[in-house]
Amino acid sequence: MHFRGHTTMSSPLRVGLAGVGTVGASVVTLLERQRAALASRTGRSIEVTAISARERGRERGVEIEGFAWFDDPVALAASPDIDLFVELIGGDEGPARQAVETALGARKPVVTANKALLAKHGMALAALAEKQHVALAFEASVAGGIPIVKTLREGLAGNEIRRVYGILNGTCNYILSRMELEKLSFEQCLSEAQRLGYAEADPTFDIGGFDAAHKLAILSSLAFGTAVDAGAIHVEGIQSISLADLESADELGYRIKLLGVAERSEHGIEQRVHPTMVLKSSAIAQVMGVTNAVTIDADAVEELTLVGPGAGGGATASAVVADIADIARGIRSPPFGLPVASLDHSARLPMQRHEGGYYVRLSVHDRPGALAAIATRMAERLISLESIVQRSKPGKRSPVSAGTTVPVVLITYATTETLIREALAAVVADGYIAERPQVIRIERD
Ligand SMILES: NC(=O)c1ccc[n+]([C@@H]2O[C@H](COP(=O)([O-])OP(=O)(O)OC[C@H]3O[C@@H](n4cnc5c(N)ncnc54)[C@H](OP(=O)(O)O)[C@@H]3O)[C@@H](O)[C@H]2O)c1
Repeated sequence: MHFRGHTTMSSPLRVGLAGVGTVGASVVTLLERQRAALASRTGRSIEVTAISARERGRERGVEIEGFAWFDDPVALAASPDIDLFVELIGGDEGPARQAVETALGARKPVVTANKALLAKHGMALAALAEKQHVALAFEASVAGGIPIVKTLREGLAGNEIRRVYGILNGTCNYILSRMELEKLSFEQCLSEAQRLGYAEADPTFDIGGFDAAHKLAILSSLAFGTAVDAGAIHVEGIQSISLADLESADELGYRIKLLGVAERSEHGIEQRVHPTMVLKSSAIAQVMGVTNAVTIDADAVEELTLVGPGAGGGATASAVVADIADIARGIRSPPFGLPVASLDHSARLPMQRHEGGYYVRLSVHDRPGALAAIATRMAERLISLESIVQRSKPGKRSPVSAGTTVPVVLITYATTETLIREALAAVVADGYIAERPQVIRIERD
């Protein structure tokens, strides 16, 4: 922690803001609304002095006349008239990356909400910030308004973290919650989310799990002192989740959530994003709608869950302003909790090594011996079944066999990804199955 000299402490902190969209405009509003409180909390007045966006004339819901205008965010980042650069443009390349690099290169601290940029270039940017002795702060990049970066980096500094997992994408949680509560299809809920502005016109990034993966890459680094490695994350989205899965989950005492999970095991660090069965009694299962949540398992604190708004202008601005306040106070922590050279670069655990319980839903041809054959394929790989349930719903005509099929749901005890995949390949090869098996991993409590 570094405190500046008294003279600097009392001079205003001049903020240059690039991107005055949903988050940027809310930051302007919040800094204005909390002006006096922030000045007394930090000992410095915080003033937005210059901004950059694409279209000068656009209505933004905030007054921008008093700020110097820059067409080019890179020129703003280099301006000698700002003390701090805030990047709220987005994107992992282009103007956002260039402007952040320029600001750091000019020895200006940077605050950003840009998880895509950090997931891709976080290590290089942190190294640059360190070399230049300036802060690179990104509280808003993960789980919006939830102060999870500070919690992991500072609040839990006395702990060894075993696992961090959470609902990191509000759009997916909204869709899964609506499907479950209203018994609607995935497609219906997705178009509803788009209508309400929760999902982009091209929703792949959210529903495919990629946005959650960017956030998980950052959380994992903070939790385990490892270099950000987004490429090593196993990513699956929620597109394949059907009402049948949600109903089976409900009957079995589970809910299905898209989770990002990072876990330290004796074999290495595992990072994965996929639909997950969580016990209905768990804290994370209670989180419905666009809300985000992060649970941390650690040795001293045991279990901690933070729940809150993961997106939206106001909530995200809350995190951006907290970072600005830290910088106004002269606080500078290593961006990822450790000096960049000390971050661990060892390889992440491949998904095949994952160990856990599995939910498997099969559409089985209604023939004698099918269930016994499935159980045998599992037993051959030492997979123990906690339950095997032929669901009571009447079977439907199978398009493949012209016979009827019955839905069968298996719950396994802990096994490995490799073994369950091998067993299911054998079940498919036996010819008893009408559709591709649905597999959902069960997260232990
Ligand atoms: N929205 C959220 O809830 C949320 C939550 C957490 C994190 N974030 C992150 O926060 C960042 C901003 O998100 P947002 O939702 O506020 O985006 P947004 O509403 O689309 O705003 C983006 C802003 O960047 C400006 N911009 C785009 N290209 C530019 C360029 N080449 N030069 C200068 N300005 C440029 C736009 O200018 P114009 O206004 O002139 O078009 C706009 O003001 C992203 O990294 C996002 O991932 C957002």
